[in-house]
Amino acid sequence: AAEESTHAGGSDFVVVANRLPVDLERLADGSTRWKRSPGGLVTALEPILRSNRGAWVGWAGVADAELDPIVQDGLELYPVSLSAQEIADYYEGFSNATLWPLYHDVIVRPEYRREWWNTYVEVNRRFAEETAKAAAEGATVWVQDYQLQLVPKMLRMLRPDLTIGFFLHIPFPPVELFMQMPWRTEIVEGLLGADLIGFHLPGGAQNFLYLARRLAGHQTSRGTVGVRSKLGVVQAGFRAVRVGAFPISIDSGQLDEQARRKPIRDRAKQIRKELGNPKHIMLGVDRLDYTKGIDVRLDALLELIAEGRVDPAETVMVQLATPSRERVESYVQMRGAIEKTVSRINGEYAEVGRPVVHYIHRPIPRDELIAFFVAADVMLVTPLRDGMNLVAKEYVACRSDLGGALVLSEFTGAAAELRQAFLCNPHDLEDVKDKMEAALNQPREDGRRHMRALRRQVLAHDVDRWARSFLDALAHQGAAGPALIAP
Ligand code: ADP
Ligand code: F6P
Repeated sequence: AAEESTHAGGSDFVVVANRLPVDLERLADGSTRWKRSPGGLVTALEPILRSNRGAWVGWAGVADAELDPIVQDGLELYPVSLSAQEIADYYEGFSNATLWPLYHDVIVRPEYRREWWNTYVEVNRRFAEETAKAAAEGATVWVQDYQLQLVPKMLRMLRPDLTIGFFLHIPFPPVELFMQMPWRTEIVEGLLGADLIGFHLPGGAQNFLYLARRLAGHQTSRGTVGVRSKLGVVQAGFRAVRVGAFPISIDSGQLDEQARRKPIRDRAKQIRKELGNPKHIMLGVDRLDYTKGIDVRLDALLELIAEGRVDPAETVMVQLATPSRERVESYVQMRGAIEKTVSRINGEYAEVGRPVVHYIHRPIPRDELIAFFVAADVMLVTPLRDGMNLVAKEYVACRSDLGGALVLSEFTGAAAELRQAFLCNPHDLEDVKDKMEAALNQPREDGRRHMRALRRQVLAHDVDRWARSFLDALAHQGAAGPALIAP
């Protein structure tokens, strides 16, 4: 321990994630600036870390950026450098062309390449080493997401004094699919380096418990895992690793407050006007990812118009799509297909100056996004698979007027909580069409009732509660002890 403490850094609470909360942007004139990173992980964790005065270890989003630790708005950032080749093999390859499709029900076929795996191991080791430098003696480290599943074990070997939590932000797949992974045992053992492993849903936790028995040969608890309760246990040698379900959320109160502000409400009215004051505005907000089912909602709209169930003269759809993983082949293909469908709908049904689908392929500033949520009559969240989907919760948090309707795929984590949405099966186009039509024509009083119930859920279960429930469970090791394990 004496040697460890000479290496230990100054932070008692450290978040480790693939990305820092900000990306370094290199501008054409050679200068650089920081901008907000994409995705739900950053949306969720940034407010937590700010209030805990912690450190964040992550990649700055560009190749070969050798940066010293910096303090930004009270956050200590420890940049991890990745070369262009490592970005290709670890990030675009193993993380986003192997793990991402495998964990999202193989919507796209995962590619298993040994050189990608080797780089994944190397880069995970680098993250573990950087974290070992940043963390103070006895600190709590919270490792995030599928890009870093080997870090818990590697970090424990470097720094046995640390308390280590791991949270998976994407679905944990069914056992039958996980078994495809050539390095399945290494991944399960990597995760078991943590003291507490968190998933969004009990189903993911239970899949993991089964694999810890089958692949790592450990004894585990057999009871049903609850939501924020009834943790499972894996007895890994002398260590009891706990496994639980902690559905993530958003800073609901903050968003509710922002959405009530007059400039946002005025901007929402202006958006409606700019869209030609249509009777109905439908909205999609996503990273441009094949898991999000953007194609599903476009296909549904096309058929609803063709069948005369939606009138293109009085309905517009706005699709805001942040560019994502643009060098991964499956993303290139999906973008082409989506843009073709957008053109087809507009080609057949738009008038000059009045497109039916407004498609914007760039990130939207936060205030502008909130104004879109306030303006939208129907929010379309139709993923084929999504760990949680924060957009659905953001929409609800922005609707203090009790207006609007949410069409939500059953295949999102959010569907387990947002039961009063128009739930649909995105694999069943007729069902999606029916739910979109029902949402468009919902009587006002029904809508208010549904939205009130949805808001109760989202405002009560915010991101602070998520983090507190995970970190409290992590701090109280042993509470659920090995007594739960069946012989
Ligand atoms: P994921 O983590 O897979 O990207 P989530 O729905 O959980 O999906 O989180 C996405 C986050 O990114 C949300 O906070 C959402 O508001 C934000 N976001 C998504 N699309 C856009 C966009 N076009 N412009 C700005 N922010 C966006
Ligand atoms: O959990 C979803 C997630 O993959 C995060 O890990 C990630 O930061 C975010 O979406 C955005 O994706 P990317 O970092 O690949 O741009």
